[in-house]
Parts: sequence; structure tokens; C-alpha cells
Amino acid sequence: MINIAIDGPSGAGKSTVAKEIAKRLNITYLDTGAMYRAFGLKALNMGIDPNDVDGVLSFLYKTVLEIKYEGGVQHVYLDGEDVSTAIREHKVSKAASDISKIKQVRETLVKEQQRIAGSNDVVLDGRDITTKVLPNSKNKFFLTASSDVRAKRRYDELISKGQTVDYETVLKDVIDRDYNDSHRAESPLTRTEDSVYIDSSDMTIEEVVQTIISNLK
Ligand code: DC
Repeated sequence: MINIAIDGPSGAGKSTVAKEIAKRLNITYLDTGAMYRAFGLKALNMGIDPNDVDGVLSFLYKTVLEIKYEGGVQHVYLDGEDVSTAIREHKVSKAASDISKIKQVRETLVKEQQRIAGSNDVVLDGRDITTKVLPNSKNKFFLTASSDVRAKRRYDELISKGQTVDYETVLKDVIDRDYNDSHRAESPLTRTEDSVYIDSSDMTIEEVVQTIISNLK
């Protein structure tokens, strides 16, 4: 069984790289951020502040979150509805980051991620994969890039999807979300000593993929 754990801040290229690795090794890719995004979206849809613990607990255990693979592509179903596109909206990013601070949300999702990783060859990306989800993985990576490069990538991605955003706002969001994700009490984003550190600022996707594959044990 192979488990590849990739952590890093948003926009570092984790999902692009993880998808490519999954394809080449013919293993499953699990985008854990999508699961936090789905809960963030649910809070927004219900008009509940994702920081409101009681409000979030009122729906957390009644929510059915399913990960399905259709043609090799991960789809996220929230209470039976495919929300794979909706969770990518700009406003959902902040809601996901906020809701991910709640201990019970993390416990619920980590358990599900461990269940998936326990029965499949997987590559997972997120913020707590190397520390909490797969602490015993032999294949840990910390993938990052400068905040400018990450904001530029996020900006290009949003524009290509037809969303209206300005670069300064995206940069500020990237910086705020980094702070949020690495300063929270529950499982903050940290780099473990046994993770291979990769700064992708000046690397191509192919170079990052090769670096990871060549480091696999
Ligand atoms: O990777 P992403 O941008 O789709 O993640 C959205 C948010 O979810 C991110 O700001 C922090 C949170 N997250 C987390 O806390 N733990 C993970 N394993 C993945 C994401």
C-alpha cells in the first residue's frame, strides 16, 4: 500500500502535482481541501457563520459528504448534490479556512480521510496530512512557493474560470489564509522534520512531479 502525503499553503501547486502523480502511478488522488470546502459551502448556503461553532455543529453530523470518482476525477457530493464546481468559488475559500478551525469538523474529516487511505493506494494533499492524517507515511512532502507566485497562480486560475477578481485582493486573501491556516489551534499547517521540502516558485509542474517521484520510498 502506498500513501503519499503532501502539505503546503494554498496555491503552491499541490493539487495539480498530486493529480499528475496519481495518474502516473495509477493511484487515487484525494483532495482533502475539497472536503473542508464542502462544509464551508454548506454553512454559507444555510446562512451560518463558518466561525460559529454551535451553528456548525447544528448541521455537521446530519450532513452527508461523499467522495466519488467519475472517469478518474474526484467529485464531491454534499447531501446528494454534486458541488465540485460550487466549492471552487472564491467566497468558499475563506469559509473553508474558517470552518476548518473547528475541532469536530477536523475530527470528522480526518477519520474519513484515514478510512479512504487505509483501503486504497493514495496521494493526499492538504494542511495536516503529514502531521495528523498520515503521520506514519514514509512519503511526506511540504510543497510551497512565494506568496506572490501563489497569488498570481490563483488569480490566473480564477480569471480563466470567468470570475471577476483583482490581483491585490487575491494576494491579500492568500496572505490572510496562510496566517489563518498556520496559526489555528487545531492542526496548524506545519512542516514536519521528515517531510521533503520543495519550493516550487521557480519550478515547472514536471520538475515538482519528478522530484516527488524520485523521492518515493
Ligand atoms: O487546499 P484548499 O485551498 O482547497 O483548502 C481549503 C481550506 O481548507 C484551507 O484554507 C484550509 C483547510 N484545509 C485544512 O484545514 N486541512 C486540510 N487537510 C485541507 C484543507
